[in-house]
Amino acid sequence: MYNPYAELNPAELERRLGAAEARMNEWQKRGLSLDLTRGKPSTEQLDMVSELGFDQLLSTTDHYAADGSDCRNYGGLAGLAELRKLFGEWLKVPAAQVIVMNNSSLKLMYDFIVEALLTGLPGGEGPWSRLDRVAVLCPAPGYDRHFALADSLGLELIPVPMDENGPDMDLVEELVKDPAVKLMFAVPQYSNPDGIVYSDEVCRRLATMETAPDFRVIWDNAYRFHHLVEEPRLCPDILPLAAASGHPDRFFEFISTSKISYAGSGIAAVASSPRNVEWLLGRLFYQIIGPDKMNQLRHLRLLDAAGGLEALMERHAELLRPKFRLANEMLRERHGNGGIVRWLEPEGGYFIGLHLAPGLARAVVAESARCGVKLTAAGAAWPHGQDPEDSCLRLAPTYPSLSELKTAMEVLCDAIEVCALRQAAVGVLK
Ligand SMILES: Cc1ncc(COP(=O)(O)O)c(C=O)c1O
Repeated sequence: MYNPYAELNPAELERRLGAAEARMNEWQKRGLSLDLTRGKPSTEQLDMVSELGFDQLLSTTDHYAADGSDCRNYGGLAGLAELRKLFGEWLKVPAAQVIVMNNSSLKLMYDFIVEALLTGLPGGEGPWSRLDRVAVLCPAPGYDRHFALADSLGLELIPVPMDENGPDMDLVEELVKDPAVKLMFAVPQYSNPDGIVYSDEVCRRLATMETAPDFRVIWDNAYRFHHLVEEPRLCPDILPLAAASGHPDRFFEFISTSKISYAGSGIAAVASSPRNVEWLLGRLFYQIIGPDKMNQLRHLRLLDAAGGLEALMERHAELLRPKFRLANEMLRERHGNGGIVRWLEPEGGYFIGLHLAPGLARAVVAESARCGVKLTAAGAAWPHGQDPEDSCLRLAPTYPSLSELKTAMEVLCDAIEVCALRQAAVGVLK
């Protein structure tokens, strides 16, 4: 990628830079306070769920699961049977291979890694914490919280570049030959932040490659149902694929309703092979007597009230589509797609990943912040916050209102221009 402003003649460059600087100073005077940092559902989306009656769905007598058990009481470590069945249908595994827990799949991922460190995984040679090195493959750009989580537990983070089909599989296959590589993160459907859908070929290679026996993939399917287009491209169902490929234990698939019901009060599930699920339940036994089954029951009622998962997700999509459309259009009109800025217009998920000309990301984040628009820290999508080209930006357009988003995008587009002009001017002017 190149900086097209570098081709301007010095006089034109100086004129454009002066005008761009003046625009930024005007923005600064406006005292804006806008935030595009985190992929949160908007208040309208949460209101839509409230309007379906989510808070009042359980009457004073509606406390019972289908098997007659009282959801107000202890028990049911693996979650409500009806929900395990439902998640199993969605993920194409039997109910017995699903555990439904409380809010936050991230918390389940954390617990999974801690348990692997402290007690070891089925098929492995004991706790990972006894090993000199434990490394995790981190497709990048990727989800900052995955990397921070693994780093905080002392794992070695190895970046793996992504392309439009998913992680670079030649490199992955090479890296997993090292027995210290025990883990890989993957967000296969609408990756955070680029919105990439892993191709069939990438999934096949992930399921079939040879690895250490206790190598596992954290298959974080956070955006499995979060489509923006009518005919979504779907990543293959990984658990049946892994079983058919002779590596049934390789994947732990995580999913949650954080962006289906309430982000702070959802339910999360993990699915895997019978052996892995037995191991995980054995570990959860010591952590918790049972999950919040009343909230699980409430989610079952919500899905009924909404006319099913697809209908509910379509309501979310109706609220989200205009925001993604606006952000894409403004970027395209202002900068084109392929020059100084390149991005995949996502077909789902919660983010837009921008790839700027090298050396611009930090400057654009700082310039936007000066003018009152907060962006995710440059580098956040890379292990240790180190983007080798200083080019990736993550936009989260879901939370602000449409008019706030429009203003934030104007500031961002101006910030990209002024930073690119300044970069082009180095060595040309003065
Ligand atoms: C890829 C990915 N995984 C997990 C999460 C968090 O999920 P949960 O709310 O279930 O912990 C997010 C939130 O943005 C995410 O983008």
